[in-house]
Amino acid sequence: MLEKMSLSSPFCIFSFLLIIFTLALISETIQAQNGRLLPKEEKNALKEIAKQLGKKDWNFDMNPCDDNTTWTTPKRSNSQYYNNVTCNCSTPDGFCHVESLFIRGQDLEGVLPASLAKLTYLKTIDLNRNYLSGTIPPEWASTNLEIMAISNNRLSGAVPEYIGNITSLVKLSLEANLFNGSLPAEIGKLVNLQMLNLIANDFTGVWPVELNNLSKLTELRVSSNNFVGKLPNFESWKNLQMVEIQGSGFEGPIPQSISVLTSLNELRISDLTGGASEFPPLRNMTGMTKLVLRSCNIHGKIPGFVAVLSKLRFLDLSFNKLEGGIANLRKLTKLEAMYLTGNAFVGAIPVWLTSQDTEYGIDLSYNKFDQRSEPSNYRENLNLFRSFKGGNSVDNGKCLSAEPCSEEKYSLHINCGGERVVIGNTSYEADEESAGAAKFVSWRENWGSSSTGHFWDRNNISLNDYKADNLSAIKGDGSPLYMTARLSPLSLTYFARCLANGNYTLTLHFAEIVYRDNRSFQSLGRRVFDVYIQDRLKLKDFDIESVAGGVDKALKEKFNVTVQDKTVEVRFQYAGKGTTSIPSRGSYGPLVSAISLEAINLKPPSALETSFNQKKEDSNCSSDFVISSHSDDSLCCLEEKKKQ
Ligand SMILES: *[C@@H]1O[C@H](CO)[C@@H](O)[C@H](O)[C@H]1NC(C)=O
Ligand SMILES: *[C@@H]1O[C@H](CO)[C@@H](O)[C@H](O)[C@H]1NC(C)=O
Ligand SMILES: *[C@@H]1O[C@H](CO)[C@@H](O)[C@H](O)[C@H]1NC(C)=O
Ligand SMILES: *[C@@H]1O[C@H](CO)[C@@H](O)[C@H](O)[C@H]1NC(C)=O
Ligand SMILES: *[C@@H]1O[C@H](CO)[C@@H](O)[C@H](O)[C@H]1NC(C)=O
Ligand SMILES: *[C@@H]1O[C@H](CO)[C@@H](O)[C@H](O)[C@H]1NC(C)=O
Ligand SMILES: *[C@@H]1O[C@H](CO)[C@@H](O)[C@H](O)[C@H]1NC(C)=O
Ligand SMILES: *[C@@H]1O[C@H](CO)[C@@H](O)[C@H](O)[C@H]1NC(C)=O
Ligand SMILES: *[C@@H]1O[C@H](CO)[C@@H](O)[C@H](O)[C@H]1NC(C)=O
Ligand SMILES: *[C@@H]1O[C@H](CO)[C@@H](O)[C@H](O)[C@H]1NC(C)=O
Ligand SMILES: *[C@@H]1O[C@H](CO)[C@@H](O)[C@H](O)[C@H]1NC(C)=O
Ligand SMILES: *[C@@H]1O[C@H](CO)[C@@H](O)[C@H](O)[C@H]1NC(C)=O
Repeated sequence: MLEKMSLSSPFCIFSFLLIIFTLALISETIQAQNGRLLPKEEKNALKEIAKQLGKKDWNFDMNPCDDNTTWTTPKRSNSQYYNNVTCNCSTPDGFCHVESLFIRGQDLEGVLPASLAKLTYLKTIDLNRNYLSGTIPPEWASTNLEIMAISNNRLSGAVPEYIGNITSLVKLSLEANLFNGSLPAEIGKLVNLQMLNLIANDFTGVWPVELNNLSKLTELRVSSNNFVGKLPNFESWKNLQMVEIQGSGFEGPIPQSISVLTSLNELRISDLTGGASEFPPLRNMTGMTKLVLRSCNIHGKIPGFVAVLSKLRFLDLSFNKLEGGIANLRKLTKLEAMYLTGNAFVGAIPVWLTSQDTEYGIDLSYNKFDQRSEPSNYRENLNLFRSFKGGNSVDNGKCLSAEPCSEEKYSLHINCGGERVVIGNTSYEADEESAGAAKFVSWRENWGSSSTGHFWDRNNISLNDYKADNLSAIKGDGSPLYMTARLSPLSLTYFARCLANGNYTLTLHFAEIVYRDNRSFQSLGRRVFDVYIQDRLKLKDFDIESVAGGVDKALKEKFNVTVQDKTVEVRFQYAGKGTTSIPSRGSYGPLVSAISLEAINLKPPSALETSFNQKKEDSNCSSDFVISSHSDDSLCCLEEKKKQ
């Protein structure tokens, strides 16, 4: 009896437990279906992830898979802030599982969360636009991620070999971080990869041939790095639709294998080192909408097939060695901008270029057309600055202006992008005209500017893009000069003419007023550009913030300039380097705050004339008034202006 009892008792307890356990399981499953429950392990993993990221606003009293405000925040318009967790609740085990984490634009200061590996159903991790540091954790090697987007952070070090273990990856974006070293060959194991974005890091070394095996790639972006050696071979990337290789360090020429990329609709290659090459074979890329081959050392003529790439919207062939006449591209009716700047085109400027009634910008500056004089009645948005040898040889054939000089100047001061400003005894002239994609401003007698290019990938293009305004808090005597600045997406020239020949000091005033100095992704921008003075490269890969030691800090770069033909020219050029996505997509390119030019040991003939010069500088006469060297005319001009 006793024995029976002792035998049946554990059995009873066991049955009882079994019933309770079954009931609990049923109730949990029901709850999961109604309340979309996560397994405990995933909830705990989220807690660890929050800690590792430095994310403090998830409310763990709530169910992450419910649409609570802390777990899924409605998209704010015009904001870079994204915040949502998505779950898959239609799984066989009856639980919900975390499928994606979008935690973007939140300036989180932590690290890439190792505990991500505990979310075994996770497919998407999007941590763009935070302030995360550190490296890619080894734990991630065991995930089944399809999308890894960790752009615009402070991540550093080498890309680990174990990234090749995440063979499920379809999109990998590492843009605008501090990753360095050579790319691991193991990236070649990511056979499902369709998108690879390595823009604006510090990758070095040669391109691993193993990556040529990524045959599903549709999008490849590797701009602004320091690779060495030849451009990759394009042979097995037949699915590529978008290629961006600007300022990446690679040597030309563009390989013939590029001809197989018949699905391309966007090709942007710039700033190749290495020898000269022919125009690449792009004949069969009839879907091409955006073509940039800038500073690629391409010589010869523009081939005829360009004229039948009928979907082209943007064509940038600037700063090559293209020669001959320009092919007739009139049939490219979808064009929105065309830059043929900085080549060696000759012959007459074709009539189809000057007479079109379309509005789009055409930039022909810096060429060698045989034109004797400016074409008459040419269209708006056509920039002919230094595009032909002026017949009457004003300014030594540079065709800066058709006007002869009324007098010689000994100084020039410009407040770039801003209004007239007086600092001490020096008046900085206003420079407020709107710039543009192909714009030549030359109404002043003694100086002007030429602006080429538009900002790629901006959502919202406006003429204000070419100026930076006073978000800045610069202190000190010259501060008003730094409140505004000119920006350029490609090339910006200031020229001075009518100068007395001799030696001058040229001062370029800079201050980084776009990036901020805070613990935010907005402080992570890197602006890098080149400066040419009198056609010579004087500042290469110039970075205002790093030279000045911070943002909002005035920086003056001084140069000795010898003037021999009465002219001085300063040109700012974007050479594909630096970030392009901070603070927002399409932010990059040269910035200049002010320009000063002062003669050294060179004095105007008489003080009287100086005061006259001053008066005229202040008058801001438009070219509608013919100015002679008679001071009365200048006064007359002032009066005319008042009357308006
Ligand atoms: C979301 O969580 C917050 C904080 O606990 C709470 O105040 C709010 O009522 C919840 N909203 C929804 C829709 O459940
Ligand atoms: C989460 O954010 C992503 C990216 O913005 C978006 O595509 C998705 O629709 C969002 N999901 C929810 C549930 O809001
Ligand atoms: C949810 O998970 C199940 C099982 O893993 C899968 O079949 C289904 O496609 C998933 N649903 C979504 C929307 O991804
Ligand atoms: C990556 O995969 C290899 C081979 O499958 C394995 O030996 C290695 O441990 C993995 N690396 C990591 C960091 O998990
Ligand atoms: C990469 O950067 C780290 C600092 O983040 C540095 O210690 C390391 O030497 C760099 N490696 C290379 C190859 O430049
Ligand atoms: C590239 O793929 C081919 C098969 O498609 C394979 O034979 C070859 O070994 C791979 N090359 C590299 C470098 O991984
Ligand atoms: C373009 O396609 C045609 C027909 O498919 C082919 O014969 C030709 O070689 C291709 N041209 C180039 C430059 O690849
Ligand atoms: C400005 O000009 C005045 C009068 O000509 C002169 O007294 C003064 O020293 C000058 N100041 C500077 C900073 O050059
Ligand atoms: C575009 O920019 C203008 C000013 O530059 C601004 O007023 C407008 O709100 C912007 N539109 C969008 C959709 O961002
Ligand atoms: C720019 O400066 C002007 C005049 O100094 C001031 O009125 C304006 O508020 C400033 N704008 C910003 C954005 O700081
Ligand atoms: C200008 O400077 C050059 C050297 O930079 C010097 O050789 C020349 O004599 C100077 N000319 C004058 C007029 O001072
Ligand atoms: C300009 O030339 C002067 C002497 O003529 C010299 O002292 C000075 O260092 C030079 N400045 C620059 C920026 O080269």
